[in-house]
Amino acid sequence: MAVENSRSLGLTSQEDVVIVRQAVRTAAVEIGLTLVDQTKIVTAASELARNTVVHGGGGTARLEIVRDTTKRGLRLTFEDRGPGIADLDLAMRDGYTTGGGLGLGLGGAKRLSTEFEIESKPGMGTRVTITRWKV
Ligand SMILES: Nc1ncnc2c1ncn2[C@@H]1O[C@H](COP(=O)(O)OP(=O)(O)O)[C@@H](O)[C@H]1O
Ligand SMILES: [Mg+2]
Repeated sequence: MAVENSRSLGLTSQEDVVIVRQAVRTAAVEIGLTLVDQTKIVTAASELARNTVVHGGGGTARLEIVRDTTKRGLRLTFEDRGPGIADLDLAMRDGYTTGGGLGLGLGGAKRLSTEFEIESKPGMGTRVTITRWKV
């Protein structure tokens, strides 16, 4: 898979979450995602960006336009060096929250993405990568 275009944005405040949302929407339009798919990835990005700020103590969002042999996609990586997640299965469960939300962010983001990957280590931080392909 080749990366056509890559851009990193800082995530420390609620305003940064808005900026990331807008950048994701623009990139989604650029690769020709349908309006429904644009909204799916923007919603997922919004949840993950908020988690980076609220639970991760801030971090970064990387937006990449990727290409394989037949199609283009939008890959988003949210990374922080916050407290990390001790039990990933539990954190992914709908309704589970350690505070600050409804506990639907991670599960929702997974359902809204065609590919979802989460890596986290207590004390080291968290990285979530999602991809949506233009089909
Ligand atoms: N980047 C992160 N760093 C540390 N913990 C996280 C992070 N993202 C999610 N979590 C943990 O996973 C839980 C579930 O996340 P989520 O489904 O988005 O629910 P909510 O944000 O509403 O609590 C959070 O309450 C938090 O404990
Ligand atoms: Mg959340």
